[in-house]
Amino acid sequence: MRLVLVGPPGAGKGTQAQFLASHFSIPHISTGDIFRANLKSGTALGLKAKTFMDAGELVPDSVTNEMVADRLTHADAEAGFLLDGFPRNVAQAQVLREILAQKSTPLTAVLELAVDTKEIVLRLSGRRTCRNCGKVWHIEFEKPSTENLCDACSGDLYQREDDKGEVISHRLQVYAEQTEPIIAFYKSEGLLITISATGSVSEITARAISALSN
Ligand code: AP5
Ligand code: MG
Ligand code: ZN
Repeated sequence: MRLVLVGPPGAGKGTQAQFLASHFSIPHISTGDIFRANLKSGTALGLKAKTFMDAGELVPDSVTNEMVADRLTHADAEAGFLLDGFPRNVAQAQVLREILAQKSTPLTAVLELAVDTKEIVLRLSGRRTCRNCGKVWHIEFEKPSTENLCDACSGDLYQREDDKGEVISHRLQVYAEQTEPIIAFYKSEGLLITISATGSVSEITARAISALSN
């Protein structure tokens, strides 16, 4: 299974990706997570990405495309992959198509998670992320058993810079302007599957697995 997950910020891509990657035994590749891991370890890539991420802007394609092309050469991606947060504009989608065409391993499907804007703002403004392992929580919808501590690794939870105030609405605008056009692109390629991403996390996972198994 070579899968792309697409949907607005806060649609639940990262949340669903954990379950889908495990169900289909494929690696979960999140460009946002890779950038944040680089930032945490203080690499040049992380520092380069930080300014764009904190402002809710896309990191330049030159940086992102090269990073993904490299990640797809890792052995674990031979059996397939789940891309979360990439591609994020039509130029990236074209680069991905080219990389996969060279290996004769085209995408299996593109799964769109559809959620309305009001729900997105609730999800993003209450999200907390583990500083240690990156796991995502929510102050209301996915509470850890101890406030501000990750159940998985006991790490501290923090609020992403881009989950604060104005940056949320800017990210939604960037999504509408730059990312949404890839939906028409993948529709025309016959790859697009859209599901509703409201309801409980497990309901959405079941919906996704059923849509992808057809
Ligand atoms: P990235 O990390 O990819 O952020 P994003 O796309 O904005 O998506 P999010 O991670 O915010 O949301 P999500 O859909 O994963 O939702 P989640 O599961 O966490 O990118 C960050 C930045 O990196 C970008 O702005 C850009 O700067 C840069 N970048 C990354 N990729 C790039 C690229 N390809 N090109 C250029 N730049 C790039 O869920 C959200 C919250 O909702 C959580 O708290 C969760 O617990 C809760 N939740 C989830 N599901 C449910 C549910 N069913 N009901 C209730 N609550 C739920
Ligand atoms: Mg995410
Ligand atoms: Zn953790």
